[in-house]
Amino acid sequence: MALKFISAEEAADFVRDGDQVGFSGFTAAGAPRVVPGFIAKKAEAEHAAGRPFQIGVFTGASTGEFLDGVLARAHAIKTRTPYQSTKDLRACINSNETQYSDIHLSELAQSLRSNFFGKINVAIIEAADVTDNGEVILTAGVGISPTICRLADKIIIELNKQHPKELRGIHDIYEPMDVPFRKEIPIYTPTDRAGVPYVKVDLNKVVGIVETDVKAGGGGFTPADEVTSQIGSNVAAFLESEMKAGRIPSSFLPIQSGVGNVANAVLGFMGENKNIPAFNIYTEVIQDAVIALMKQDRVKFASGCSLTLSESVLQEVYADLNYFKPRLVLRPQEISNNPGLVRRMGLITINTALEADIYGNINSTHVCGTKMMNGIGGSGDFTRNAYLPIFTTPSIAKGGKISSIVPMVSHADHSEHSVKVLITELGVADLRGKSPVQRAKLIIDNCVHPEYKEMMYEYMRIAGKGHTPHNLRACFALHNELNESGDMRNADFSKYLK
Ligand code: COA
Repeated sequence: MALKFISAEEAADFVRDGDQVGFSGFTAAGAPRVVPGFIAKKAEAEHAAGRPFQIGVFTGASTGEFLDGVLARAHAIKTRTPYQSTKDLRACINSNETQYSDIHLSELAQSLRSNFFGKINVAIIEAADVTDNGEVILTAGVGISPTICRLADKIIIELNKQHPKELRGIHDIYEPMDVPFRKEIPIYTPTDRAGVPYVKVDLNKVVGIVETDVKAGGGGFTPADEVTSQIGSNVAAFLESEMKAGRIPSSFLPIQSGVGNVANAVLGFMGENKNIPAFNIYTEVIQDAVIALMKQDRVKFASGCSLTLSESVLQEVYADLNYFKPRLVLRPQEISNNPGLVRRMGLITINTALEADIYGNINSTHVCGTKMMNGIGGSGDFTRNAYLPIFTTPSIAKGGKISSIVPMVSHADHSEHSVKVLITELGVADLRGKSPVQRAKLIIDNCVHPEYKEMMYEYMRIAGKGHTPHNLRACFALHNELNESGDMRNADFSKYLK
């Protein structure tokens, strides 16, 4: 069947007010870069003419300025799921202009197939190649692409020249059967493949192909500083000691590592610790550090949902696909984050907390319990089901005005039941088998910053008795203080005890 090429502007015209639009990719990797900008322009023109124009935006995870940013600034996003990390969209979410449903990433494809979110009208997919029998070779991220291509009435394909056609073979596209017919997913180790290397689309639904030539990279991290380096080296030393104690097999276990600067630094340090054998990665986001470790044969294989790499590292991978392709697989997030597979393979998971409390509950998402930062992402998919779930965080934020460890988290994403180890730059709290009061002592002794340690011991003194002691009048004293004076160090529990 002949493929029809159209301009990005013409493509954007297929998107109507009120449509629910699914986009390919996971993080900026693999997301369409050009058509969203034209949808934003259309929205602005419609608003200027006094007409409404807003859409529902469904993606694999976060995207970037070219999608979430531009559409948020055009006030064009009515609903958004499942994750984001863009300043302007964050503002729309926190002002309630955009209704944001922050969900576990592994659940989205199934939720769409089950019609939990209503109809997907249009799918917009970035591709490295399209064959005339409808095989679409995706680019650097998979996300929910196979599902939205099946569910949408219209498909728009952005064919981006920056991604080589030779990417064919890096993806493993597999969609599980829906309940009640679901069977075991035949993946037992990170290197296993269960599907096909392409997304098969019905070409009758493809309303047009837009040729693009836009830079493909999407990652980029601040280099590790003293704090993130120390966290990284603490994680590596802890895992080494677990291996020596026989609690991690000598062949090691697959590693999942979260998003952000801390996660990237942690992986770098694990690679440097030569007492840890070369390991496999089973994760959602493959960041720069993984590629660096692969070149040194410290990472043997990486399975993920996206290559979220800085431009130069992505180009390095593309320039040497003969080396990297046999060592990488990109899967839909339903598989990369699948809770059953996480439990089956016995993953060691390392994610970053925004805030932890003295009992080991984790807030990954909400600043002071109210303002959305990014979202839960895949951290819940992995943490709850891991063999050894670890959370890391710098002990303080904003130059010490914020303690990352507080008496009670202001929003709970991961409960103390799921969190087994907490690590800051100061040390490790191994919470396995410990009661709440034992956990609190370990966390305060080993992880809390010196400027906040005495405050936390004082909190324990006023917390009273109980299995999990708390003073419900004073437990948010630090958050209240941050809201009032901008510095948690001024917190005074006695104010709440009168
Ligand atoms: N209160 C308010 N702000 C805080 C804070 C707290 N308790 N702790 C950290 N911050 C701020 C930092 O100051 C920084 O702000 P800045 O961007 O203005 O400098 C920002 O949060 C990011 O912190 P940083 O230390 O640079 O960490 P990061 O880049 O590793 O990101 C998370 C940390 C928690 C925001 C990020 O990991 C995240 O969104 N996690 C949830 C999703 C997830 O875990 N996904 C992975 C699953 S595979």
